[in-house]
Amino acid sequence: MAEYDWEALRAQAIEAAKSAYAPYSGLHVGVAAVVDDGRIVVGCNVENASYGLGMCAECTMAGQLRLTGGGKLVAVACRSGEGALLMPCGRCRQVLFEHGGADCLVDTPSGILPMSAVLPDAFGPDDLP
Ligand code: THU
Repeated sequence: MAEYDWEALRAQAIEAAKSAYAPYSGLHVGVAAVVDDGRIVVGCNVENASYGLGMCAECTMAGQLRLTGGGKLVAVACRSGEGALLMPCGRCRQVLFEHGGADCLVDTPSGILPMSAVLPDAFGPDDLP
């Protein structure tokens, strides 16, 4: 298994959380991921006065992934601005699965786990005709 600098990735997630726009929840979220070409992409949550339109950090990161050259996510860390480990919500696990697949590693309270453990038996691109 490839080795990643998880401490550096967590620090980049915390840094990304500084850009969060979260006036409604007050929870500043940052996420950072290693891409299969070695670059790092980050995201932050961006809320909206129409609450349901808020975007999670993982969603804005998916945009950054595409905008900076695409590729596949291989390692992901999500943190609050205060440094607390946050698990990606259910919807975001699906977003991460789309761009990282079953082997993408995720920083979790139970240690570093593959997406196959974080989103078991996932629905994905292979399920489409
Ligand atoms: N949030 C994320 O950015 N990612 C997640 O995986 C969970 C939740 C954000 C959404 C909202 O802006 C705030 O956290 C509180 O739910």
